[in-house]
Amino acid sequence: MSPLRTRLTPQTLRSRLLVTTIALLLGVGLVIGAVTTIALRHTLNGQLNAQVDETAGRTERLVEGQFRGGGPPGGGPPGPGDTTTACPAGTTRAFVGLGQVDGTLYAQFAGGRVDLADSGVLETDAEQACSVPLTAAQAAPLGAVARSGHTTVDLPGLGAYRLTARERPDGSVAVTGLPVAGVDRTVRNVLAVEALALLVGVGAAAVLGSLLIRRDLLPLQRVAATAARVSELQLDRGDVGLEDRVPMADTDERTEVGRVGLALNRMLDHVRSALESRHDSELQVRQFVADASHELRTPLAAIRGYSELTRRSRDAVPADVLHAMGRVESEAVRMTGLVEDLLLLARLDAGRPLERDPVDLTMIVLDAVSDARVAGRDHTWRLDLPEEAVEVVGDQGRLHQVLANLLANARTHTPPGTTVTVGIHRAAGAAHLEVVDDGPGIPPQTLPHVFERFARGDSSRSREAGSTGLGLAIVDAVVASHHGSVSVASAPGRTAFRVSLPTA
Ligand SMILES: Nc1ncnc2c1ncn2[C@@H]1O[C@H](COP(=O)(O)OP(=O)(O)OP(=O)(O)O)[C@@H](O)[C@H]1O
Ligand SMILES: [Mg+2]
Repeated sequence: MSPLRTRLTPQTLRSRLLVTTIALLLGVGLVIGAVTTIALRHTLNGQLNAQVDETAGRTERLVEGQFRGGGPPGGGPPGPGDTTTACPAGTTRAFVGLGQVDGTLYAQFAGGRVDLADSGVLETDAEQACSVPLTAAQAAPLGAVARSGHTTVDLPGLGAYRLTARERPDGSVAVTGLPVAGVDRTVRNVLAVEALALLVGVGAAAVLGSLLIRRDLLPLQRVAATAARVSELQLDRGDVGLEDRVPMADTDERTEVGRVGLALNRMLDHVRSALESRHDSELQVRQFVADASHELRTPLAAIRGYSELTRRSRDAVPADVLHAMGRVESEAVRMTGLVEDLLLLARLDAGRPLERDPVDLTMIVLDAVSDARVAGRDHTWRLDLPEEAVEVVGDQGRLHQVLANLLANARTHTPPGTTVTVGIHRAAGAAHLEVVDDGPGIPPQTLPHVFERFARGDSSRSREAGSTGLGLAIVDAVVASHHGSVSVASAPGRTAFRVSLPTA
């Protein structure tokens, strides 16, 4: 379809229905108008022919009466309204006036020549019947009028005339006719009335149709509104309250829209039960992870304790056992960290409420950076803090963990000599905590997934550092439960993590 046609084609169902209805109405109106006009013209022509025949008969009778009465032609017996005797100049009193209508044409032919003195067009009114003589030019076409039936001839100065010719016993021919103008006028008037009626009718239909279609489409709009509201819900996780349904009134199975509404409601019921079972299994998994982590804490503490005990009693155990116990202890420490991380994530997922106290972000930064300085002596640590303290509402311990995780990454995933800058910036309603390092950056294939669980770049450094890939997942979960957001931008030479938290 061409762009213009696309632009002109109505888009909404409502406008399409309206345009179709009006087009159909217009088409039907035009067909009816054309048919009635043709029928009317046919009838009127038939009537005119009958009138012409009547007029011809009357004229003949009058002329015969005239001759029998011996009166002079052109001065016939006065008609019913023929009270005055004078006719205007250039006209004569018409003997064919009786009962004849205004505009009647009559002409006498004898030997193929028209008798101009006995031809004319009647001008009758209530007072009298006078006859305007025909000119030679007007009379000339009359000779060609057929001797039977009717002929329509355009006469100069008089317009179209329906004529009939009758031969008399004496061989002369009488031509009688009536103007066609009346028929044309009537047809024109009817056409004008029809056009007006069609216009008004179509206009009224457009207004009324628009209102009715709008009313009829309201249920569809309500169904669409329900679908739109549901489509805006976040269905990808958690307990989704999928309660929205198409109103009962719009679920009548007897109507098309009702069937759509009903189907949508059924589908929403299915989706809700699917989401509920997903939520249930999510809860189960979460509970399982939380329980498992919790249960693992005690045996891990025992392993750590026993291995430490063995390590302390150096003399009693051989060196290789000592080394093995050292490894057991360090792995137990690592596993304890992992279990703590899993437990924290499970609790955050469960929406376990965090502390909500005023927290001084500046203090957290100072503490965390001084810890990092001790742990990462090969790195350069810089601070970029505002003059006054920046306060947010939240859980101090968790926020400290967020920063500690980011600083641990900046330390473990960058080479010695890397400069790490920790800054706080205030913005309208939010505080931005930034950890920027000038290390080699996050591998591009890892970057889109860094906040996912167990996502890590498999550099040897990561493996050496014994990383698990939960650090940034915890950052993300903690920040989200503080109604904040975390983002990362990384390229070789500059990796920047930005945590945005709403201020108190
Ligand atoms: N500052 C950084 N520079 C370079 N790479 C980084 C940086 N921070 C994170 N990464 C990359 O992102 C990955 C994910 O980090 P994340 O903290 O989630 O896990 P991890 O550090 O590997 O393990 P964990 O923190 O659980 O011990 C890391 O493995 C590392 O490849
Ligand atoms: Mg990490």
